[in-house]
Amino acid sequence: MFKIVKKRILTPVTKLFEVDAALVAKKAQPGQFVVVRVTEKGERIPLTVAATDPGRGTVTIVVQEVGKTSSMLGRLEEGQDLLDFAGPLGKPAPLLDSGHVVVVGGGFGVAPILPIAKALKSRGVKVTGIVGARTKDLLILRDELAESCGEVLVATDDGSLGTKGLVTDVLKKELIDQGVKIDQVIAIGPMVMMRAVAEATRPYNLKTLVSLDPIMVDGTGMCGACRCTVEGKTRFACVDGPIFDAHKVDFDEAVRRGKMYAAEQRVAFDRYKAEVAK
Ligand SMILES: Cc1cc2nc3c(=O)[nH]c(=O)nc-3n(C[C@H](O)[C@H](O)[C@H](O)COP(=O)(O)OP(=O)(O)OC[C@H]3O[C@@H](n4cnc5c(N)ncnc54)[C@H](O)[C@@H]3O)c2cc1C
Ligand code: FES
Repeated sequence: MFKIVKKRILTPVTKLFEVDAALVAKKAQPGQFVVVRVTEKGERIPLTVAATDPGRGTVTIVVQEVGKTSSMLGRLEEGQDLLDFAGPLGKPAPLLDSGHVVVVGGGFGVAPILPIAKALKSRGVKVTGIVGARTKDLLILRDELAESCGEVLVATDDGSLGTKGLVTDVLKKELIDQGVKIDQVIAIGPMVMMRAVAEATRPYNLKTLVSLDPIMVDGTGMCGACRCTVEGKTRFACVDGPIFDAHKVDFDEAVRRGKMYAAEQRVAFDRYKAEVAK
């Protein structure tokens, strides 16, 4: 059992948890994830490590409630336990040792970007952040990201904060078009956002990494659920990734596979909502 020692509500559907998991805290590197199980008969969901505190033996995760299991997790409170907290899984993010890296976080993606930005800063890399959300109330962890970035630029769909538009608008207009030298872009968030960032940087041959979030089951390379195609080759995101060269990812396939069980996921979520409403 893994105790929740702290809970923070970031938005009505986004919750931060600090979890007592000393061994994971000792080993996890930026870019790695854990697989969490909430109940005995429940499914296992992958969540990226957002921070570790090896001294206290805690690991921070941030969950956006999009379906049944993420919502069950989001309702847990301090003092309650998670059944499984397996990790760290996946390959650590390959980080540069110098230059200028732009980190882009959309939605929950700001959380996984945090340890990457922090590690880059500690290596002496200049880091610029771009965060995006539909509206300003859904932006998360901007102050925490600012601790590792010279500047954090903001995009909101409705223009309630920062530039009105998408993170790609900010990346292009405020950095690329201004001639700012960028050595690498790392984007984490919804698939549609990561794909848009890949397309924005492709014409400039600007090295771009994304963290793929396909459906996963075991998280250890055995089931094939997380299969994706990168540079024409089959890869398992859980063991070969989840971070890949964005310009080599087959996003059409990734989007298609991500929607494979959408109808079943909707039914499970509707049943769960009806149960908790009783
Ligand atoms: C390596 C990895 C790291 C991740 N890190 C985080 C994280 O730090 N925080 C976080 O909130 N989420 C993260 N995710 C996504 C998270 O695992 C899913 O949102 C979760 O499994 C959904 O489970 P569910 O039962 O609540 O919803 P489901 O019933 O499984 O799905 C509900 C809806 O969400 C969509 N969906 C399903 N799976 C995913 C997915 N993998 N990514 C995006 N949308 C999905 C479906 O299309 C459906 O519409 C990560 C995924 C991976 C693979
Ligand atoms: S989740 Fe099973 S192989 Fe990756």
